[in-house]
Amino acid sequence: MKVSQLPTVLSLLFCYTPAVLGGLYQRVDNYVGNAFYDAFEFQAIEDPTHGRVNYVDQATAQAQNLTYASYDSFVLRADSKTVLDPNGPGRNSVRIRSKKVYTTHVAVFDVRHMPQGCGTWPAIWETNEAVWPNGGEIDIVEGVNDQSPNAVTLHTGANCTMPPSRNMTGTATYDDCDVAANYNAGCGVKLPSAQSYGPSFNANGGGWYAVERNNGFIQAWFWPRNDPYVPFDVRIGAPAVNTYLWGKPSAFFPNNAGCNLKSHFNENNIIINLTFCGDWAGNSDVYAASGCPSTCVDFVNNNPAAFGGAYFDLASVRVYQ
Ligand SMILES: *[C@@H]1O[C@H](CO)[C@@H](O)[C@H](O)[C@H]1NC(C)=O
Ligand SMILES: *[C@@H]1O[C@H](CO)[C@@H](O)[C@H](O)[C@H]1NC(C)=O
Ligand SMILES: *[C@@H]1O[C@H](CO)[C@@H](O)[C@H](O)[C@H]1NC(C)=O
Ligand SMILES: *[C@@H]1O[C@H](CO)[C@@H](O)[C@H](O)[C@H]1NC(C)=O
Repeated sequence: MKVSQLPTVLSLLFCYTPAVLGGLYQRVDNYVGNAFYDAFEFQAIEDPTHGRVNYVDQATAQAQNLTYASYDSFVLRADSKTVLDPNGPGRNSVRIRSKKVYTTHVAVFDVRHMPQGCGTWPAIWETNEAVWPNGGEIDIVEGVNDQSPNAVTLHTGANCTMPPSRNMTGTATYDDCDVAANYNAGCGVKLPSAQSYGPSFNANGGGWYAVERNNGFIQAWFWPRNDPYVPFDVRIGAPAVNTYLWGKPSAFFPNNAGCNLKSHFNENNIIINLTFCGDWAGNSDVYAASGCPSTCVDFVNNNPAAFGGAYFDLASVRVYQ
């Protein structure tokens, strides 16, 4: 090459290098088994989504075996023994929130089993509850009444919309992330894999969900347990990951003229919760369309044995920065 071309080549290298390194993250948190009890707090709070649930504290959850940890497993479950008094509190269940908060990060959730059953509304998500919706919300795992597939959704304050056409394998539902639009449906993406949610996820041994968040984009992936293409760093829980090698995401939310991600997302906690019925699962049209019997609240009150599968079994949550 001519010497006069050198500055151009160097500036190109300079431009590309940070972008490539942008896919590389080092592990900062490794939650497995008992580590969840140190890193997360149990929230015995009222359900903001009006579910037929009674969130219990950690001591109660442990006494009733609604949470359980072994060397490689962390379980969160709902009560599956009690017929409820229709005038009393809802079904005992759990909601946990990470003590740490995250901005730019990758989180990988290795999930063996997720809650299933009519009336269930489980979620693995990230938000800042103190300033909601202005710190943003990323729902990584969410669905109701065993209806596959999984939906990955952002919820924000005003003025955050996503371009209708994006480079992802999932299918966008709404493009306006503003909680005031579309009755707080958020900007959602339905995943292409039927195994991404509910009974078919569980029958397949679960799988991995991952989210990557930075100021340029938020994206999420799902790999079923038996997927031969799950990235090696994800499969082994490596000390570093490179999202550049993970392929096309299931859901992609770019920073764009319609949404300045940095101004809509701040320090978020990781939250894992399991509620019943409430604003989404218990909506009478949604519940009826799922093919579930009776009414949601009546079913949850009277059929404890139907909730034997209403549990998360988490192999790990790993966070990279
Ligand atoms: C559970 O998670 C979902 C996540 O999308 C959230 O919208 C809902 O408010 C949560 N419910 C409770 C009771 O925390
Ligand atoms: C508590 O739950 C765990 C995980 O499901 C199970 O292995 C264990 O046997 C349960 N313990 C009791 C006392 O029921
Ligand atoms: C949203 O955009 C409108 C018009 O562009 C502006 O008037 C309004 O102040 C913005 N709201 C927020 C919360 O930024
Ligand atoms: C879409 O993403 C894939 C990988 O994520 C990339 O290889 C491809 O170039 C992208 N296509 C467009 C049109 O951006």
